[in-house]
Amino acid sequence: MKIAIISDIHANTLALEAVLNQINSFGADKIFCLGDILMAGYDPNGTAKTILELDNLEIIQGNTDKMVACFSQELLEKAKNKFPCMGYALEDDLKIIDEKYKDFVRNLPENRYIEINGLKIQLVHGSPRQQDENIYPNLALNDVEKMVENSNADLILCGHTHIPCGYSLNSGKTVVNVGSVGRSMTEDKMPYWALLEINNDGTFQIEHKSVNYDNVKVSEIIKNRNFKHSDDLAKMYIRSN
Ligand SMILES: [Fe+2]
Repeated sequence: MKIAIISDIHANTLALEAVLNQINSFGADKIFCLGDILMAGYDPNGTAKTILELDNLEIIQGNTDKMVACFSQELLEKAKNKFPCMGYALEDDLKIIDEKYKDFVRNLPENRYIEINGLKIQLVHGSPRQQDENIYPNLALNDVEKMVENSNADLILCGHTHIPCGYSLNSGKTVVNVGSVGRSMTEDKMPYWALLEINNDGTFQIEHKSVNYDNVKVSEIIKNRNFKHSDDLAKMYIRSN
């Protein structure tokens, strides 16, 4: 069975479409989405519509989905102080996101277990112990082990940091951060996802994938949304060199 895993789309429909085309070319049977579909991009409603039309989708809630769904003035002010372009993007997003999509992400689970051919898989956004914990590349194996110690899964799939990476732990668990479709923090700024292939005996292979898309166009559209600090958000889509 082939499963495509996507995460952190962040209202970037162009990037999502490029990834879905690539996923189709691999003939995936299912798609797992690890959250953060709506906030701080250019097209939250279009992205949500595209996600909801997918067949064989399993989806969980990301930390920024929760911010959109459980918004409060206090949370907004905190976000504006901590990371201004995200806070002001959230404020602007709240004006345009359809209530039905807010309800949709509000009701998503924070994590879930799925078993396929005996392989126990856990879907999380940040880590099994915290929705917004960062599983970055080059962490000490013992630290990652602690982050996943409350998980019973063989394979833990996560996103949140927008940087793909993976760990084979001494406990036998495998942890894969699939990266971000919509606002990649990799040097190339391209959308990342992962292709998981599970054999009949439960053994598996998993590989990071990426695809080209028009990041310059998306950056321009975001800049033109014209909320405070939208130019800072727009810069995050462009390579620094
Ligand atoms: Fe994210």
